[in-house]
Amino acid sequence: MKEQVLSNLPDSFPWINQIHYFDCINSTNTQAKAMAAEGASHGTVLIADRQTDGRGRMGRSFHSPANMGIYLSIILRPDTKPTQLMHLTCATGVAACNAIEVACGFRPKIKWANDLIYQKKKLGGILTELSLNSKTGLVDYAIIGIGINCNQSPTDFPEDIREIATSLSVARAKHVDRPALIANLLCEIENMSNMLLPQKNVIMAQYRKDCFTIGEEISVVKCDCVRHGRALDIDDDGALIVSFPSGTVETVNTGEVSIRGMYGYL
Ligand code: BTN
Repeated sequence: MKEQVLSNLPDSFPWINQIHYFDCINSTNTQAKAMAAEGASHGTVLIADRQTDGRGRMGRSFHSPANMGIYLSIILRPDTKPTQLMHLTCATGVAACNAIEVACGFRPKIKWANDLIYQKKKLGGILTELSLNSKTGLVDYAIIGIGINCNQSPTDFPEDIREIATSLSVARAKHVDRPALIANLLCEIENMSNMLLPQKNVIMAQYRKDCFTIGEEISVVKCDCVRHGRALDIDDDGALIVSFPSGTVETVNTGEVSIRGMYGYL
């Protein structure tokens, strides 16, 4: 797999000598955090064929069977405050949509904040995690984790997610070349990492176009509290602006809440 990924990357790709491949690992994000804590450099890439403990947002798991999906994490070391990186998950979503569009010929949508979707089903997700330098308060490292269902057929998904999960091969009725898509993803992420701070507004303008959630009636779920409202917009930090029937308009951040459609996943 690693050789196939390398053969799809341009020789000039700046992270080409920092790509680590694992046949099986608990979670590429967990391993990336350990490597970052040991000093792994900006642009270190971890790719796994299978994860035994793939993780999603809000403590959820990400089903990661062998030979079917893409599970990768990248260590970034942007020299900035955490408040400047609130849009990192959104920026990663746009980069993933770009890569899928080039490799598969269609552009997924994004369910705020971090789910890649196609025809109202989940194709994959993004999990970003930050660690701060306790002395400076600046970002020590950021981990970008991306999981994409590629070659699963519907029966490959566990029953509890079968109704809401899909894969790229189901979407396009064609087998997906995972190494080629991984190479596209890495190029898109590298490009995004250069745009992240200087071109935040460009990235967020594209995110708003890709985001399925804007205009939808949604349920905002915070701990045990569920409130119904309408998603109006997304601000430049990636927060969702929601109007509630009482007339109040609130900005909700990804760290605090998850959302559902009024009648199910979307
Ligand atoms: C979500 O669905 O909430 C996010 C899923 C993110 C899954 C990816 S797979 C690679 C990386 N390693 C993990 O454990 N999680 C992310």
